[in-house]
Amino acid sequence: MNRRPLIAGNWKMFGLAADLSEMEGLAPHAARLTGLDIVLCPPATLIAQAAWRLKGGVMGLGGQDCAPAQQGPHTGDVSAAMLKDAGAAWVILGHSERRRDHGESDALVRAKADAALAAGLTPILCVGETIEERKAGAADSVVTRQLARSVPDGAPASLVIAYEPVWAIGTGLTPSAAEIVEIHAVVRAALMARFGADGAAMRILYGGSVKPANAGEILALDGVDGALVGAASLKAADFGAIMEAHPAARAGN
Ligand code: 13P
Repeated sequence: MNRRPLIAGNWKMFGLAADLSEMEGLAPHAARLTGLDIVLCPPATLIAQAAWRLKGGVMGLGGQDCAPAQQGPHTGDVSAAMLKDAGAAWVILGHSERRRDHGESDALVRAKADAALAAGLTPILCVGETIEERKAGAADSVVTRQLARSVPDGAPASLVIAYEPVWAIGTGLTPSAAEIVEIHAVVRAALMARFGADGAAMRILYGGSVKPANAGEILALDGVDGALVGAASLKAADFGAIMEAHPAARAGN
């Protein structure tokens, strides 16, 4: 199965208008690396401006969360349709920081994914175990359970899964290459068991302390269809270097 690689940046709660110059520094990489999908997820406040500044380019934009409801009296929430209207085509859902900070359950993540799909956004749905769960030998079962409960029935082949071990986010720690390959295979098996050919086509990203220094090795691993990058996506030099480290980039496309 030939899946098109995807490299996505998650700015989290960083970034003011002045930082969009970093995003513009990525455009030449994105334009040259035609074999990769490149997506940037800035804070919601910057999406419309980012879309305007990227007009005509190949880089995609995403939100970092959306509401489960289409619209309504939900002060402070941002709907999927609003993200789309601002210029986003993607949305990160179920990130562990939202599960932790806002108590988001798998059921809520699933409702958000349904809302995103209904609005025409592609979800990048995050799963991943804590360090305690990994030490207890429960990483596979935790991730399988999160997938079963948070990925909606009938999810299309375009839906993206990001495997992000919680203990690797922002810590400089990463699982070993063998551990990444092993758990990506677990995710793939679960997706195929439930969605068949669509499950074989869904992309599975790795996220957690991806840096220019380790991107080449991680992005070349079996079953890794790309990366979801946090801190290193904030600087064009680092995020550009991560894109350039993809095997498809080195192959000249
Ligand atoms: P870091 O790359 O900063 O570890 O963050 C990963 C992440 O959470 C991306 O969503």
